[in-house]
Amino acid sequence: MPQTPAPRAAQVHHITHPLVQHKLTLMRDREASSTTFRTLLGELAMLMAYEVTRDMPTQMVEIETPLEKMASPMIDGKKLVFASILRAGNGMLDGLLRVVPNARVGHVGLYRDPKTLEAVEYYFKMPTDMAERDVIAVDPMLATGHSAAAALARLKALRPRSLGFLCLLAAPEGIRTLHAEHPDVPIYTAAIDRELNDHGYILPGLGDAGDRIFGTK
Ligand code: URA
Repeated sequence: MPQTPAPRAAQVHHITHPLVQHKLTLMRDREASSTTFRTLLGELAMLMAYEVTRDMPTQMVEIETPLEKMASPMIDGKKLVFASILRAGNGMLDGLLRVVPNARVGHVGLYRDPKTLEAVEYYFKMPTDMAERDVIAVDPMLATGHSAAAALARLKALRPRSLGFLCLLAAPEGIRTLHAEHPDVPIYTAAIDRELNDHGYILPGLGDAGDRIFGTK
């Protein structure tokens, strides 16, 4: 069967900043402890927030410097929502919220039905007034892309003003899935790895992100 064509470059923002790449290399190391892994993930989320928010609209507000009044630009952080895809998405929230402290936070929980292989939702909680908000769905690992695609579909139904997807590592398979199902959603990633293995793990990858964040293995 012919494969969906590789995603257009405009769809995928590959964040190649040396600091991002350096910290990602440290995270990939199997010897990195959970503490180190979590700390690095938080730092990377802060750095990546920079790129994700690059095109966010600003509005001029009146302020007073010690010397005079002026109009100066500000992002409306309250309009921004970070939608964490459970559970690994939570590992990026602290870093993102450090950079955009007024952002709202939503959570999406999905599991894969072993029989139908469909993504089944077990939790969904978002702020109100989603139609006025810019939403960034967050999951460190874009592997098959099935749960990410399901989460994006659920979020789209709320008609947010804009929608993006932030991850640390993306597999080509996951990018293809998202590109096929949500060609309008930009993907922000620090790396595009080689492939998935038979168990759906990204190669070379960094292992199970949730387990490494929360020390569950
Ligand atoms: N989820 C992970 O945590 N790691 C992978 O490699 C793929 C999916």
